[in-house]
Amino acid sequence: MKTLSIIIALFTGWIILNGNKQAGNDEWVAPVSFDTLTNPFLNNAKAIAEGKKIYESTCWSCHGYSGKGNGPAAVGLTTKPADHTSNKLLKETDGALLWKITKGRGQMPAYEQLFSKQQRWKLVCYIRELGKTAKTE
Ligand code: HEC
Repeated sequence: MKTLSIIIALFTGWIILNGNKQAGNDEWVAPVSFDTLTNPFLNNAKAIAEGKKIYESTCWSCHGYSGKGNGPAAVGLTTKPADHTSNKLLKETDGALLWKITKGRGQMPAYEQLFSKQQRWKLVCYIRELGKTAKTE
Protein backbone atom coordinates (compact mmCIF):
# COMPACT_ATOMS: atom_id res chain seq x y z
CA MET A 1 0.00 0.00 0.00
CA LYS A 2 2.80 2.37 0.94
CA THR A 3 4.57 1.76 -2.36
CA LEU A 4 1.38 2.45 -4.21
CA SER A 5 0.86 5.83 -2.53
CA ILE A 6 4.45 6.79 -3.31
CA ILE A 7 3.89 5.91 -6.95
CA ILE A 8 0.67 7.93 -7.01
CA ALA A 9 2.41 10.89 -5.36
CA LEU A 10 5.29 10.78 -7.87
CA PHE A 11 2.90 10.48 -10.77
CA THR A 12 0.80 13.43 -9.58
CA GLY A 13 3.97 15.49 -9.18
CA TRP A 14 5.04 14.58 -12.69
CA ILE A 15 1.68 15.69 -14.11
CA ILE A 16 1.84 19.01 -12.26
CA LEU A 17 5.41 19.67 -13.43
CA ASN A 18 4.52 18.91 -17.01
CA GLY A 19 1.46 21.11 -16.82
CA ASN A 20 3.61 24.01 -15.61
CA LYS A 21 6.11 23.46 -18.36
CA GLN A 22 3.31 23.72 -20.92
CA ALA A 23 1.90 26.89 -19.40
CA GLY A 24 5.32 28.53 -19.28
CA ASN A 25 6.12 27.54 -22.83
CA ASP A 26 4.59 30.64 -24.38
CA GLU A 27 6.89 30.86 -27.39
CA TRP A 28 4.94 30.54 -30.64
CA VAL A 29 7.08 28.59 -33.05
CA ALA A 30 6.15 27.68 -36.63
CA PRO A 31 6.97 24.21 -37.99
CA VAL A 32 10.56 24.19 -39.34
CA SER A 33 9.34 23.01 -42.74
CA PHE A 34 7.98 26.53 -43.33
CA ASP A 35 11.38 28.17 -42.77
CA THR A 36 12.62 27.11 -46.19
CA LEU A 37 9.71 28.60 -48.16
CA THR A 38 10.61 31.50 -50.42
CA ASN A 39 8.37 34.53 -50.54
CA PRO A 40 7.25 34.73 -54.21
CA PHE A 41 6.83 38.50 -53.90
CA LEU A 42 10.19 39.36 -52.36
CA ASN A 43 10.89 43.11 -52.77
CA ASN A 44 7.91 43.45 -55.09
CA ALA A 45 6.62 47.02 -54.66
CA LYS A 46 3.13 46.22 -55.93
CA ALA A 47 2.80 43.32 -53.47
CA ILE A 48 3.96 45.53 -50.59
CA ALA A 49 1.30 48.10 -51.53
CA GLU A 50 -1.38 45.44 -51.67
CA GLY A 51 -0.24 43.99 -48.35
CA LYS A 52 -0.43 47.47 -46.84
CA LYS A 53 -4.03 47.83 -48.01
CA ILE A 54 -5.07 44.57 -46.30
CA TYR A 55 -3.03 45.38 -43.20
CA GLU A 56 -4.66 48.77 -42.83
CA SER A 57 -8.15 47.33 -43.17
CA THR A 58 -7.79 44.12 -41.11
CA CYS A 59 -4.67 43.99 -38.94
CA TRP A 60 -4.20 47.55 -37.71
CA SER A 61 -6.99 47.33 -35.10
CA CYS A 62 -4.78 45.05 -32.98
CA HIS A 63 -1.27 45.56 -34.36
CA GLY A 64 -1.54 49.32 -34.96
CA TYR A 65 -0.79 51.27 -38.17
CA SER A 66 2.92 51.24 -37.47
CA GLY A 67 2.86 47.53 -36.53
CA LYS A 68 3.97 48.08 -32.95
CA GLY A 69 1.14 46.03 -31.47
CA ASN A 70 -0.68 49.05 -30.08
CA GLY A 71 -3.91 49.20 -32.12
CA PRO A 72 -7.11 50.34 -30.38
CA ALA A 73 -8.44 46.77 -29.99
CA ALA A 74 -5.24 45.64 -28.22
CA VAL A 75 -6.41 47.02 -24.86
CA GLY A 76 -9.20 44.43 -24.67
CA LEU A 77 -6.90 41.47 -25.29
CA THR A 78 -5.21 39.27 -22.70
CA THR A 79 -2.34 38.48 -25.11
CA LYS A 80 -0.45 41.47 -26.43
CA PRO A 81 -0.51 41.55 -30.26
CA ALA A 82 2.97 40.98 -31.67
CA ASP A 83 5.18 43.99 -32.40
CA HIS A 84 5.87 43.61 -36.13
CA THR A 85 8.90 45.86 -35.91
CA SER A 86 10.66 43.96 -33.11
CA ASN A 87 14.07 42.32 -33.47
CA LYS A 88 12.50 39.00 -32.50
CA LEU A 89 10.22 39.17 -35.50
CA LEU A 90 12.99 40.30 -37.84
CA LYS A 91 14.80 37.06 -37.00
CA GLU A 92 11.85 34.91 -38.04
CA THR A 93 11.65 33.57 -41.57
CA ASP A 94 9.03 34.74 -44.08
CA GLY A 95 7.64 31.19 -44.11
CA ALA A 96 7.15 31.19 -40.34
CA LEU A 97 5.21 34.46 -40.54
CA LEU A 98 3.08 33.09 -43.37
CA TRP A 99 2.24 30.05 -41.23
CA LYS A 100 1.28 32.17 -38.22
CA ILE A 101 -1.00 34.39 -40.32
CA THR A 102 -2.53 31.24 -41.83
CA LYS A 103 -3.12 29.30 -38.61
CA GLY A 104 -3.49 31.98 -35.91
CA ARG A 105 -3.29 31.25 -32.19
CA GLY A 106 -5.55 32.33 -29.34
CA GLN A 107 -6.53 35.94 -29.98
CA MET A 108 -4.58 36.11 -33.23
CA PRO A 109 -7.18 35.07 -35.84
CA ALA A 110 -6.45 32.41 -38.46
CA TYR A 111 -6.62 33.95 -41.94
CA GLU A 112 -6.53 30.75 -43.97
CA GLN A 113 -10.14 31.19 -45.11
CA LEU A 114 -10.34 34.95 -45.38
CA PHE A 115 -7.22 35.57 -47.49
CA SER A 116 -5.65 33.61 -50.32
CA LYS A 117 -2.10 32.34 -49.93
CA GLN A 118 -0.91 35.11 -52.27
CA GLN A 119 -2.60 37.74 -50.10
CA ARG A 120 -0.99 36.24 -46.99
CA TRP A 121 2.46 36.41 -48.65
CA LYS A 122 1.77 40.08 -49.46
CA LEU A 123 0.99 40.67 -45.80
CA VAL A 124 4.39 39.18 -44.95
CA CYS A 125 5.96 41.62 -47.45
CA TYR A 126 4.27 44.52 -45.73
CA ILE A 127 5.27 43.33 -42.24
CA ARG A 128 8.91 43.32 -43.48
CA GLU A 129 8.41 46.84 -44.73
CA LEU A 130 7.11 47.95 -41.32
CA GLY A 131 10.28 46.56 -39.76
CA LYS A 132 12.46 48.62 -42.13
CA THR A 133 10.55 51.86 -41.56
CA ALA A 134 10.76 51.50 -37.80
CA LYS A 135 14.53 51.08 -38.00
CA THR A 136 15.06 54.33 -39.88
CA GLU A 137 12.64 56.36 -37.72
C1 HEC B 1 -7.98 40.61 -32.81
C2 HEC B 1 -6.64 41.10 -32.77
C3 HEC B 1 -5.71 40.75 -33.91
C4 HEC B 1 -5.90 40.97 -35.26
C5 HEC B 1 -7.10 41.59 -35.95
C6 HEC B 1 -4.69 40.51 -35.92
N1 HEC B 1 -3.80 40.02 -35.01
FE1 HEC B 1 -1.94 39.25 -35.39
N2 HEC B 1 -1.68 38.83 -33.41
C7 HEC B 1 -2.61 39.09 -32.43
C8 HEC B 1 -2.12 38.56 -31.17
C9 HEC B 1 -2.83 38.65 -29.83
C10 HEC B 1 -0.87 37.95 -31.44
C11 HEC B 1 0.02 37.20 -30.46
C12 HEC B 1 -0.45 35.76 -30.45
C13 HEC B 1 0.33 34.87 -29.50
O1 HEC B 1 1.52 35.08 -29.30
O2 HEC B 1 -0.27 33.93 -29.01
C14 HEC B 1 -0.63 38.14 -32.87
C15 HEC B 1 0.48 37.67 -33.53
C16 HEC B 1 0.72 37.83 -34.88
C17 HEC B 1 1.88 37.33 -35.59
C18 HEC B 1 3.01 36.51 -34.98
C19 HEC B 1 4.23 37.34 -34.73
C20 HEC B 1 5.32 36.53 -34.08
O3 HEC B 1 5.53 36.67 -32.88
O4 HEC B 1 5.94 35.75 -34.76
C21 HEC B 1 1.76 37.72 -36.90
C22 HEC B 1 2.75 37.46 -38.03
C23 HEC B 1 0.51 38.44 -37.02
N3 HEC B 1 -0.09 38.49 -35.77
C24 HEC B 1 0.03 38.99 -38.18
C25 HEC B 1 -1.24 39.54 -38.34
C26 HEC B 1 -1.79 39.96 -39.61
C27 HEC B 1 -1.05 39.95 -40.93
C28 HEC B 1 -3.07 40.38 -39.36
C29 HEC B 1 -4.10 40.88 -40.34
C30 HEC B 1 -4.39 40.06 -41.50
C31 HEC B 1 -3.31 40.23 -37.92
N4 HEC B 1 -2.17 39.71 -37.33
C32 HEC B 1 -4.48 40.57 -37.28
C33 HEC B 1 -3.80 39.76 -32.57
C34 HEC B 1 -4.39 40.13 -33.77
